[in-house]
Amino acid sequence: MKVSLMFQSPVVFAIICSCIYLLFLVSKSNGQATTDPIEVKALNSIFQQWGISDVSSWNISGEPCSGVAILNSTNIDDTDFNPGIKCNCSYNNGSTCHITHLKVYEKDVNSVIPEELANLTYLTYLNLDRNYFTGSMPTFLGQLSAMQNLSLAINALSGSIPKAIGNLKDLISLSFSSNNFSGALPSQLGNLVKLEELYIDSSGVSGEIPTSFGSLVNMRIMWASDNNFTGKIPDFIGNWTKLTELRFQGNSFQGPIPASFSNLTLLTDLRISELSNVSSTLDFIKDMKALTTLVLRNNMISGTIPSNIGEYEKLQRLDLSFNNLTGQIPSSLFNLSSLSHLFLGNNSLFGALPSQKSSSLLNIDLSYNQLSGSFPSWVTSDLQLNLVANNFIFDSSNISIFPMLNCLQRNFPCNRASPRYSSFAIKCGGPELTALDGVVFERENKSLGPASYYVTNTSKWAVSNAGMFYDRKGSLYTQNSLAQITGGGTLNSEFFRTARLSPGSLRYYGLGLENGTYNVSLHFAEIGYDDQSSRTWKSLGRRVFDVYIQNF
Ligand SMILES: *[C@@H]1O[C@H](CO)[C@@H](O)[C@H](O)[C@H]1NC(C)=O
Ligand SMILES: *[C@@H]1O[C@H](CO)[C@@H](O)[C@H](O)[C@H]1NC(C)=O
Ligand SMILES: *[C@@H]1O[C@H](CO)[C@@H](O)[C@H](O)[C@H]1NC(C)=O
Ligand SMILES: *[C@@H]1O[C@H](CO)[C@@H](O)[C@H](O)[C@H]1NC(C)=O
Ligand SMILES: *[C@@H]1O[C@H](CO)[C@@H](O)[C@H](O)[C@H]1NC(C)=O
Ligand SMILES: *[C@@H]1O[C@H](CO)[C@@H](O)[C@H](O)[C@H]1NC(C)=O
Ligand SMILES: *[C@@H]1O[C@H](CO)[C@@H](O)[C@H](O)[C@H]1NC(C)=O
Ligand SMILES: *[C@@H]1O[C@H](CO)[C@@H](O)[C@H](O)[C@H]1NC(C)=O
Repeated sequence: MKVSLMFQSPVVFAIICSCIYLLFLVSKSNGQATTDPIEVKALNSIFQQWGISDVSSWNISGEPCSGVAILNSTNIDDTDFNPGIKCNCSYNNGSTCHITHLKVYEKDVNSVIPEELANLTYLTYLNLDRNYFTGSMPTFLGQLSAMQNLSLAINALSGSIPKAIGNLKDLISLSFSSNNFSGALPSQLGNLVKLEELYIDSSGVSGEIPTSFGSLVNMRIMWASDNNFTGKIPDFIGNWTKLTELRFQGNSFQGPIPASFSNLTLLTDLRISELSNVSSTLDFIKDMKALTTLVLRNNMISGTIPSNIGEYEKLQRLDLSFNNLTGQIPSSLFNLSSLSHLFLGNNSLFGALPSQKSSSLLNIDLSYNQLSGSFPSWVTSDLQLNLVANNFIFDSSNISIFPMLNCLQRNFPCNRASPRYSSFAIKCGGPELTALDGVVFERENKSLGPASYYVTNTSKWAVSNAGMFYDRKGSLYTQNSLAQITGGGTLNSEFFRTARLSPGSLRYYGLGLENGTYNVSLHFAEIGYDDQSSRTWKSLGRRVFDVYIQNF
């Protein structure tokens, strides 16, 4: 057995050279630190079942707790240390090692979580994200009582979440996002009082959030979008005063947003959408001055936009679209709005001003509300602002501030009195193309952003896009593909080389269409995700959307 790689490598030794370590290493050279044979056997069996036979970073066939697995200088989260294990060799006076960390990340393992894992009883960290694990989340995970970080995100696991997970009293972070689970969250998860991070978005779970979750007051981050949660958003979440991020989009919750949320003043990122039945107001955000992202779309929010919205100095992304907001756009969006606009104009007089808002990309989506009145001066600052489908009225003094926006107000006035078109065809996100039957699909290749619209110069049709890709940096609102798509009828593969992507709402408007009965054909092809049959983690994405045609 090797004494230790550390002793043999002067470089590494220099890094960790301290008296305590010297003694520790000496004692190791007398005996030999060896991995608990039960764990060795379990690990080998697990890796065999997962088809992992070769690991560059440590000796998988011999002593697992060797090499980088016991180097203090390597972190389990290092990307090139994968698969990776970490061990703690301080047991039995430094003669026994136990495996404490196991990571097999983004390896597209097609397998189940095997029983042998229950033998790794010293695990504090397990990360199996981005594979293709099937079967259930095993109940025996509840026996791994040292566990602090458990992450099984982006897999094909199914069945219910075992109650036994509630035994893992030391859990700090739990993630089972993007799986195919079903059933409600077990109330036992409310026992995880140390939990600070919970990632359960797109996991398939449903039902009400258990009342036992009221105890989870150490929660800092909770992502729970795209599930089928029902009932009300619990009042007790207002008691989780350490919360900095909360995502509750795309569930089946009823309003209102609890008034207790006004106590969540550390929130930097709040996303709630698709609340039904009961309306809310924006009163609860009064003291949330740390917000950088606020998404409250499609929640039946009524009332006005708070006039103090200018005090939210860190706010970069604001989406209040698809609500019932009335009144005017507040005149002060941010304190230095008009000045920072001048600053952008390169006026050296203002060179000393903080450049806060002029540099940060500010996205504001207020589309689909009932806003009216006059635009404040800041609307022309350097930001993306979507005001489509409100009740603004224009005259010659302001019609050109946002060209053609007047066509996209609630009453869609353009060409309305004198309809002149009876058909149109659009190549979403791409160049003009002609179908086999001669129909010309007009070019629609504008650089749409998170809050933007475009009206053709003939005012024949328009497009508006709303919504942000929050977690895909630098992403575009089009998708390209070289895939050969068959079965497109009169449309060949060329039509499916490009497509529009929208994380929120993508709308096409026919303006000035004659009255009558129309046929509407929508053509879809999935060109973004891998084919399901490939059984890779990239095939596990789901695209969920509604199609509305004139409110139907
Ligand atoms: C490891 O776990 C399996 C399944 O729980 C069990 O049957 C086996 O006895 C364990 N192996 C050892 C070496 O303890
Ligand atoms: C791995 O360990 C085994 C047994 O300890 C040893 O025989 C083998 O040479 C080692 N392989 C490498 C690549 O270090
Ligand atoms: C998800 O589970 C359902 C049954 O609950 C099953 O019909 C479906 O095929 C599963 N989907 C995937 C991607 O595994
Ligand atoms: C919030 O916490 C306080 C103190 O622990 C408790 O009395 C109260 O019932 C909690 N509120 C809710 C809605 O659970
Ligand atoms: C906010 O917290 C304070 C102190 O815990 C409590 O008295 C108050 O009722 C809470 N506010 C709301 C709206 O729940
Ligand atoms: C929107 O507000 C108006 C009055 O301001 C009200 O009549 C209407 O019911 C509200 N609609 C929704 C969906 O809340
Ligand atoms: C345009 O100006 C008129 C007054 O000249 C005003 O009534 C109207 O509200 C303004 N519209 C916008 C969108 O600012
Ligand atoms: C859209 O297509 C036209 C014509 O091919 C081209 O000139 C223009 O640069 C394209 N716009 C974008 C944003 O790609």
